[in-house]
Amino acid sequence: MTASAASRVEIVRDVASLRARLAERRRAGETISLVPTMGALHAGHISLVVEAKKHARRVVMSIFVNPAQFAPSEDFCSYPRSFETDAALFAAAEGDLIFAPSVEAMYGEGFATTINLAGPAAVGLEDRFRPTHFAGVAIIVAKLLNQCRPDVAIFGEKDFQQLKVVTRMARDLDFETRILGAPTVREADGLALSSRNIFLSAKERARAPSLYAALRRCANDINAGVAIETALDTAHATLAAAGFVTDYFEARHAETLGPIASRGEGPIRLLAAARLGKTRLIDNIAL
Ligand code: PAJ
Repeated sequence: MTASAASRVEIVRDVASLRARLAERRRAGETISLVPTMGALHAGHISLVVEAKKHARRVVMSIFVNPAQFAPSEDFCSYPRSFETDAALFAAAEGDLIFAPSVEAMYGEGFATTINLAGPAAVGLEDRFRPTHFAGVAIIVAKLLNQCRPDVAIFGEKDFQQLKVVTRMARDLDFETRILGAPTVREADGLALSSRNIFLSAKERARAPSLYAALRRCANDINAGVAIETALDTAHATLAAAGFVTDYFEARHAETLGPIASRGEGPIRLLAAARLGKTRLIDNIAL
């Protein structure tokens, strides 16, 4: 464990040191929140730190670009990495400890365990387009929860299906950690903050807010009594006209993420993923 010269944030890179440090904290009677991230921090991640501070005395952030959740065709190698800036942002938010392990520290020689998911991980949203993604998320989150044994772990609603998958897994596997969701932080024009937004060209960036605008319009239409199918058709057409290739734009039951045909069937969440050039944007809103 090393204490960063620039701040009081501790940086830990191996599991044994993490366990030792957090055991000390617990012995001192302190509670712990965990904010799992892949780094390239933005104000959305920092909002999770602010939320985490409300629930525990100490805030741990993990920064680990997890190879297991990227398909071979995806952007693991080019995923943005900015550790120094991340550490400074975390320090400014008064976080306590960064856990930034190597790939070898997390996936040792002979690693052979997978978690087989159903329920919210198999509803035909992200899982349809990224079939191996949630198994990769589940294994790393399970490891992080075991390694940190936090009282609370905070996840963004930005990745709404991920939040549901993690909540289900924690319940099914009897993790003691409370899983909490936090609202999506957006740019002034509505675009949800994402580490991948830096990949948008100027032209794409100008169009990107159309995704949130389409979600809002769709929600307003359904709330005003327009049939769900009709409201979704409008959203698809709007996005196509704005130059998006839409993977999905759907109305789902906000708890199960199962299909929902009418307003009366339960709380609705609108969830969408659409590509602008090479960049894939995901977003969702409550109705
Ligand atoms: P990452 O994409 O770095 O996101 C880390 C956390 O920040 C997630 O819980 C995500 O939902 C949240 N987040 C991202 N953008 C946000 C925004 N605009 N507003 C609020 N919260 C936002 O999600 C992952 O990493 C990984 O899958 C991880 C859970 C760390 C497992 O590897």
